[in-house]
Amino acid sequence: MSLPLLLDHLKKVATLGQVAGIISWDQETMMPEKGATQRAEQTGVLAGLIHQLNTDPRIPEWVAAIDEKEISEFDKANIREATRDYNRSTKVPEDLAQTIAKASAEGQMIWSKAREAGDFQMFAPALEKLVQLKREEAQCLSNRQDNLYDALLDQFEPGAKTETLLPLLEELREPLVDLREKISEKPTSKRFMGHYPASKQLALAEKLAKQLGYDFDAGRIDISTHPFSSGGSGDSRITTRTDEKDPLNCLYSTAHEVGHALYAQGAPEPFLPAAQYCSMGIHESQSRFWENQVSRSRSFAEWLYPEMKSYFPDMNISSADEFYRAVNRVETGFVRTEADEVHYNLHVLLRFELERELISGDLEVKDLEAEWNKRFKKYFGLEVIDVKLGVLQDVHWSVGLFGYFPTYSLGNIYSACLDKAMLIDIPDRDQKIATGNTTQTLNWLRNKIHDKGKLLSAEDLIQSATGTTPSARPLIEYLEDKYGTLYDL
Ligand code: CO
Repeated sequence: MSLPLLLDHLKKVATLGQVAGIISWDQETMMPEKGATQRAEQTGVLAGLIHQLNTDPRIPEWVAAIDEKEISEFDKANIREATRDYNRSTKVPEDLAQTIAKASAEGQMIWSKAREAGDFQMFAPALEKLVQLKREEAQCLSNRQDNLYDALLDQFEPGAKTETLLPLLEELREPLVDLREKISEKPTSKRFMGHYPASKQLALAEKLAKQLGYDFDAGRIDISTHPFSSGGSGDSRITTRTDEKDPLNCLYSTAHEVGHALYAQGAPEPFLPAAQYCSMGIHESQSRFWENQVSRSRSFAEWLYPEMKSYFPDMNISSADEFYRAVNRVETGFVRTEADEVHYNLHVLLRFELERELISGDLEVKDLEAEWNKRFKKYFGLEVIDVKLGVLQDVHWSVGLFGYFPTYSLGNIYSACLDKAMLIDIPDRDQKIATGNTTQTLNWLRNKIHDKGKLLSAEDLIQSATGTTPSARPLIEYLEDKYGTLYDL
């Protein structure tokens, strides 16, 4: 009888988690400004309740009474995840969990004001507090006091360790810098010019989402400052944004978030942990795959360009080939979320090293802005003059997300591994994509990734889908091949 009791309990935890997701969605899309203080309380109370359920002393008793020989692989994974959550939660005292939830909500508010004012020092005390709290949390979680960062990383990428992640990500640096240098000597491709009404951009975004397989009966698209996706299974929502001078922002933010949502909509079951996403790196591999390998491909330009032309007859781009070049324009800039595929992972590497040093104590918050600017100059060759485009550009640290950034690069690495394997299984995939037919592509991902939920670790999932262990090589080869052709290198 223990298994049904445990599963029922896990469903309750997941339900509260989903409620937390919905109110955070509301906070980003429609909550009035004066709701912020109340919302911080609500978030704190909810986190406390989830913490109570996760630390229920009956969990280890139920687990101990289950005979693992008699149950399915799926339920074995549920037990593994329940135990993992129980261990994590019992190690962190409830008042610390609540303090972190509150400090994160406040941190985000202060960050947003400091960003508006362009003043890092205004944000520094809140960040200082969050770094301290996250270090405390990591100390509770980790047996190894010499590597607190791994305890935080583990929340987003279960089982990942800095010692294996660092060489994997660092392998990207040299080839990417090399590629950037070579491209910088070449003439850049054409930019989109003109005016692109927001309402038409949204209409096209919906059309694109449908074409990629997004189920509007299990989701919706709204507007927010920073696009994101939220929820799962039957309620997988996304947001996008529009810029009337630049139609690509809306288009590719949508493709990215649709990638996340397709993964969520493909979850085999809405509540149980074994059916949920494998890791943030795998989640990001799905969004990047649909954004880059599909929507920024030469093949898909054959479908997307005529669609663009029908929505924006006056646009200054006049062929599918010119469109392909324009959407893959390479330019060194300050902002991670606007970075092209060549620069993107270099932005992540900067954050990965800074946040490791913040957590280890090698870098103090008061020196963060200066360090950011110094290293940005070193890695990108640009002087940061506006802090909004510098250390204050990302929300992550303001809400206590340390250990999250490297999952973006892992996502890029995984998406290239999947792309390579998929092309072997479906040799005519790109011909299909050129006509707008992405059914086979989605089915392949459903079978190899979505249906598997959290049965395997991220590394084993990539291994099972592609036949080889995850490596940075497919991404490097994909980028060298694509941009080598685009820029005639
Ligand atoms: Co994403």
